[in-house]
Amino acid sequence: MKIKTPLFIVFEGIDGAGKSTQAGLLYAFCKDKTHAALLQEPTDSQYGKTLRKMLKGEIPGTREQLLELFIQDRVYDVEHNIVPLLHKGYVVIVDRYFYSTAAYQAGDGIKPSDIVKMNIERGFPVPERVYFIDIEPAIALQRIQMRSGDNKDIFETLHTLELIRKNYLSIADDRFAVIHGTGLSVKDVWNEVVKDFEKHFVTG
Ligand code: TYD
Repeated sequence: MKIKTPLFIVFEGIDGAGKSTQAGLLYAFCKDKTHAALLQEPTDSQYGKTLRKMLKGEIPGTREQLLELFIQDRVYDVEHNIVPLLHKGYVVIVDRYFYSTAAYQAGDGIKPSDIVKMNIERGFPVPERVYFIDIEPAIALQRIQMRSGDNKDIFETLHTLELIRKNYLSIADDRFAVIHGTGLSVKDVWNEVVKDFEKHFVTG
Protein backbone atom coordinates (compact mmCIF):
# COMPACT_ATOMS: atom_id res chain seq x y z
CA MET A 1 0.00 0.00 0.00
CA LYS A 2 1.52 3.31 -1.09
CA ILE A 3 0.19 6.79 -0.36
CA LYS A 4 0.78 9.53 -2.92
CA THR A 5 3.22 12.14 -1.54
CA PRO A 6 3.51 15.01 -1.05
CA LEU A 7 -0.15 15.39 -0.33
CA PHE A 8 -2.20 18.25 1.07
CA ILE A 9 -5.54 17.39 2.69
CA VAL A 10 -7.96 19.66 4.56
CA PHE A 11 -10.85 18.89 6.92
CA GLU A 12 -13.75 21.31 7.18
CA GLY A 13 -17.11 21.48 8.88
CA ILE A 14 -19.22 23.55 11.22
CA ASP A 15 -18.32 23.54 14.92
CA GLY A 16 -19.36 20.20 16.41
CA ALA A 17 -19.26 18.30 13.10
CA GLY A 18 -16.57 15.91 14.30
CA LYS A 19 -13.97 16.93 11.72
CA SER A 20 -11.08 17.08 14.22
CA THR A 21 -11.73 13.45 15.19
CA GLN A 22 -11.71 12.43 11.52
CA ALA A 23 -8.56 14.46 10.80
CA GLY A 24 -6.89 12.61 13.70
CA LEU A 25 -7.98 9.24 12.32
CA LEU A 26 -6.59 10.04 8.87
CA TYR A 27 -3.33 11.19 10.46
CA ALA A 28 -3.04 7.90 12.39
CA PHE A 29 -3.78 5.97 9.18
CA CYS A 30 -1.07 7.83 7.21
CA LYS A 31 1.70 8.05 9.78
CA ASP A 32 2.11 4.26 9.89
CA LYS A 33 2.87 4.27 6.21
CA THR A 34 4.69 7.52 5.43
CA HIS A 35 5.72 10.91 6.87
CA ALA A 36 2.61 12.73 7.93
CA ALA A 37 1.74 15.86 9.91
CA LEU A 38 -1.48 17.04 11.52
CA LEU A 39 -1.93 20.82 11.74
CA GLN A 40 -4.70 23.11 12.88
CA GLU A 41 -5.88 26.65 12.13
CA PRO A 42 -5.99 28.98 13.92
CA THR A 43 -2.38 28.11 14.79
CA ASP A 44 -0.57 28.90 18.02
CA SER A 45 1.17 31.94 16.47
CA GLN A 46 0.59 35.38 18.04
CA TYR A 47 -2.21 35.90 15.47
CA GLY A 48 -3.82 32.61 16.39
CA LYS A 49 -3.68 33.45 20.10
CA THR A 50 -5.39 36.81 19.52
CA LEU A 51 -7.96 35.10 17.32
CA ARG A 52 -8.88 32.56 19.99
CA LYS A 53 -9.52 35.38 22.46
CA MET A 54 -11.75 37.13 19.92
CA LEU A 55 -13.61 33.89 19.19
CA LYS A 56 -14.34 33.46 22.89
CA GLY A 57 -15.56 37.07 23.04
CA GLU A 58 -12.82 37.94 25.56
CA ILE A 59 -11.63 40.79 23.33
CA PRO A 60 -13.73 42.47 20.64
CA GLY A 61 -13.09 41.85 16.95
CA THR A 62 -14.97 43.07 13.88
CA ARG A 63 -15.56 40.82 10.87
CA GLU A 64 -12.78 42.71 9.02
CA GLN A 65 -10.33 42.32 11.90
CA LEU A 66 -11.05 38.60 12.13
CA LEU A 67 -10.65 38.20 8.37
CA GLU A 68 -7.32 40.04 8.41
CA LEU A 69 -6.00 38.08 11.40
CA PHE A 70 -7.01 34.70 9.92
CA ILE A 71 -5.09 35.65 6.77
CA GLN A 72 -2.03 36.72 8.80
CA ASP A 73 -2.19 33.47 10.75
CA ARG A 74 -2.39 31.54 7.46
CA VAL A 75 0.65 33.39 6.05
CA TYR A 76 2.50 32.12 9.13
CA ASP A 77 1.14 28.57 8.80
CA VAL A 78 1.88 28.28 5.06
CA GLU A 79 5.40 29.69 5.44
CA HIS A 80 6.46 27.85 8.60
CA ASN A 81 4.53 24.60 8.40
CA ILE A 82 2.61 23.68 5.27
CA VAL A 83 5.07 24.50 2.47
CA PRO A 84 8.21 23.20 4.24
CA LEU A 85 6.45 19.91 5.08
CA LEU A 86 5.15 19.49 1.53
CA HIS A 87 8.68 20.10 0.24
CA LYS A 88 9.88 17.33 2.53
CA GLY A 89 7.34 14.97 0.97
CA TYR A 90 4.87 14.76 3.85
CA VAL A 91 1.18 14.07 3.88
CA VAL A 92 -0.03 17.34 5.42
CA ILE A 93 -3.47 17.23 7.03
CA VAL A 94 -4.93 20.55 8.16
CA ASP A 95 -7.91 20.87 10.47
CA ARG A 96 -9.54 24.06 8.98
CA TYR A 97 -8.03 26.19 6.24
CA PHE A 98 -9.21 29.01 3.95
CA TYR A 99 -12.59 27.37 3.36
CA SER A 100 -13.29 28.14 7.04
CA THR A 101 -12.49 31.80 6.44
CA ALA A 102 -14.85 31.75 3.45
CA ALA A 103 -17.66 30.10 5.41
CA TYR A 104 -17.25 32.00 8.71
CA GLN A 105 -16.08 35.50 7.69
CA ALA A 106 -18.41 36.02 4.69
CA GLY A 107 -21.22 38.53 5.09
CA ASP A 108 -21.77 42.30 4.82
CA GLY A 109 -21.50 42.04 1.04
CA ILE A 110 -18.45 39.74 1.02
CA LYS A 111 -19.34 36.40 -0.59
CA PRO A 112 -17.72 33.10 0.44
CA SER A 113 -16.42 32.69 -3.12
CA ASP A 114 -14.74 36.16 -2.93
CA ILE A 115 -12.85 35.00 0.15
CA VAL A 116 -11.72 31.76 -1.54
CA LYS A 117 -10.51 33.81 -4.52
CA MET A 118 -8.67 36.23 -2.26
CA ASN A 119 -6.85 33.38 -0.49
CA ILE A 120 -5.82 31.77 -3.77
CA GLU A 121 -4.58 35.14 -5.05
CA ARG A 122 -2.46 35.46 -1.91
CA GLY A 123 -0.63 32.36 -3.15
CA PHE A 124 -1.78 29.95 -0.44
CA PRO A 125 -1.49 26.39 -1.76
CA VAL A 126 -4.76 24.71 -2.73
CA PRO A 127 -5.34 21.31 -1.10
CA GLU A 128 -5.87 18.21 -3.20
CA ARG A 129 -8.94 17.12 -1.25
CA VAL A 130 -11.28 18.75 1.26
CA TYR A 131 -13.23 16.42 3.54
CA PHE A 132 -16.31 18.38 4.48
CA ILE A 133 -18.09 16.67 7.36
CA ASP A 134 -21.64 17.85 6.91
CA ILE A 135 -24.02 17.52 9.85
CA GLU A 136 -27.29 19.17 10.81
CA PRO A 137 -26.61 22.42 12.71
CA ALA A 138 -29.12 21.41 15.43
CA ILE A 139 -27.21 18.18 16.10
CA ALA A 140 -23.90 20.05 16.06
CA LEU A 141 -25.22 22.48 18.63
CA GLN A 142 -26.31 19.65 20.94
CA ARG A 143 -22.80 18.20 20.77
CA ILE A 144 -21.21 21.61 21.44
CA GLN A 145 -23.45 22.10 24.45
CA MET A 146 -22.47 18.72 25.90
CA ARG A 147 -18.80 19.38 25.25
CA SER A 148 -18.40 22.97 26.36
CA GLY A 149 -21.36 23.93 28.54
CA ASP A 150 -21.38 27.71 28.62
CA ASN A 151 -17.86 28.02 27.25
CA LYS A 152 -19.05 28.44 23.66
CA ASP A 153 -17.51 30.60 20.97
CA ILE A 154 -19.19 33.48 19.18
CA PHE A 155 -20.37 31.39 16.19
CA GLU A 156 -22.12 28.71 18.18
CA THR A 157 -25.81 29.58 17.74
CA LEU A 158 -28.24 27.69 15.50
CA HIS A 159 -28.81 30.57 13.11
CA THR A 160 -25.08 31.23 12.66
CA LEU A 161 -24.24 27.56 12.18
CA GLU A 162 -26.97 27.30 9.52
CA LEU A 163 -25.50 30.27 7.65
CA ILE A 164 -21.99 28.85 7.87
CA ARG A 165 -23.16 25.49 6.53
CA LYS A 166 -24.88 27.24 3.61
CA ASN A 167 -21.68 29.17 2.90
CA TYR A 168 -19.64 25.96 2.86
CA LEU A 169 -22.05 24.28 0.44
CA SER A 170 -21.87 27.33 -1.86
CA ILE A 171 -18.10 26.88 -2.34
CA ALA A 172 -18.01 23.07 -2.53
CA ASP A 173 -16.30 22.24 -5.83
CA ASP A 174 -15.00 18.93 -7.13
CA ARG A 175 -12.15 19.01 -4.61
CA PHE A 176 -14.74 18.54 -1.88
CA ALA A 177 -15.79 15.15 -0.58
CA VAL A 178 -19.04 15.96 1.22
CA ILE A 179 -19.54 13.33 3.93
CA HIS A 180 -23.05 13.27 5.39
CA GLY A 181 -22.38 12.72 9.07
CA THR A 182 -25.83 13.19 10.60
CA GLY A 183 -26.87 9.99 12.34
CA LEU A 184 -23.59 8.22 11.57
CA SER A 185 -21.12 6.97 14.17
CA VAL A 186 -17.48 8.11 14.19
CA LYS A 187 -16.62 4.74 12.62
CA ASP A 188 -19.19 5.08 9.85
CA VAL A 189 -17.94 8.57 8.94
CA TRP A 190 -14.37 7.28 9.00
CA ASN A 191 -15.30 4.46 6.62
CA GLU A 192 -16.56 7.07 4.15
CA VAL A 193 -13.43 9.20 4.53
CA VAL A 194 -10.99 6.33 4.12
CA LYS A 195 -12.87 4.88 1.17
CA ASP A 196 -12.55 8.19 -0.66
CA PHE A 197 -8.92 8.64 0.43
CA GLU A 198 -7.90 5.17 -0.79
CA LYS A 199 -9.65 5.71 -4.09
CA HIS A 200 -7.77 8.93 -4.80
CA PHE A 201 -4.41 8.66 -3.08
CA VAL A 202 -3.49 5.04 -2.33
CA THR A 203 -2.04 2.50 -4.75
CA GLY A 204 -1.11 -1.17 -4.37
P1 TYD B 1 -11.48 25.62 17.33
O1 TYD B 1 -11.35 25.72 18.80
O2 TYD B 1 -10.34 25.09 16.55
O3 TYD B 1 -12.81 24.86 16.98
P2 TYD B 1 -13.10 23.55 16.16
O4 TYD B 1 -12.63 22.42 17.00
O5 TYD B 1 -14.60 23.59 15.99
O6 TYD B 1 -12.39 23.66 14.85
O7 TYD B 1 -11.89 27.06 16.84
C1 TYD B 1 -11.87 27.37 15.58
C2 TYD B 1 -12.91 28.42 15.39
O8 TYD B 1 -12.38 29.39 14.49
C3 TYD B 1 -14.17 27.87 14.77
O9 TYD B 1 -15.31 28.41 15.38
C4 TYD B 1 -14.11 28.40 13.35
C5 TYD B 1 -13.29 29.63 13.45
N1 TYD B 1 -12.52 29.97 12.22
C6 TYD B 1 -12.93 31.05 11.46
O10 TYD B 1 -13.91 31.73 11.79
N2 TYD B 1 -12.21 31.37 10.33
C7 TYD B 1 -11.11 30.68 9.95
O11 TYD B 1 -10.47 31.01 8.91
C8 TYD B 1 -10.69 29.55 10.75
C9 TYD B 1 -9.46 28.78 10.37
C10 TYD B 1 -11.43 29.24 11.88
